[in-house]
Amino acid sequence: MNDMVRIQLQVNGANVEGTVEPRLTLADFLREHLDLTGTHLGCEHGVCGACTVLLNGDSVRACLMFAVQVDGADVVTVEGLAPEGALTDLQANFRRHHALQCGFCTPGMLTTAHAFLRECPCPSREEVREAISGNLCRCTGYIPIVDAILATAEARNDGGAQGAGEPK
Ligand code: FES
Ligand code: FES
Repeated sequence: MNDMVRIQLQVNGANVEGTVEPRLTLADFLREHLDLTGTHLGCEHGVCGACTVLLNGDSVRACLMFAVQVDGADVVTVEGLAPEGALTDLQANFRRHHALQCGFCTPGMLTTAHAFLRECPCPSREEVREAISGNLCRCTGYIPIVDAILATAEARNDGGAQGAGEPK
């Protein structure tokens, strides 16, 4: 069972290869093998959402997946939301609305919100609350986080920019 496995995938638009143990989680692969430490580990049990990344466009818990399961897949981490360095509109709104305190939950909130706004570009406040209900913020910064996500949707619907570096 401990035989190493060769995997190949896209991470933040780049081709990545690795040789991993079958038991290595995707979160540990991203953090320890690729040095993408923006993906945070809180509970490591699928509860807190801090480890959320995009897998083929959908938000998933990186602590609940094995790296071998994403062989051939397309993964985007929080670092990949703004590949050119400039903040996306969503990130800028998190800053503007003071939606981060310690910031530990922020990567998971951003990746969750990013995927959610693609699926639901015109959300109600209730829908935003529901969308982030699987992400825990220990600083209880939920109201500003909801405000930031709603402000992003409203600006986009008013014809605002999608944000620099926004992945397709
Ligand atoms: S670390 Fe993955 S859900 Fe908490
Ligand atoms: S800002 Fe601290 S956990 Fe959310």
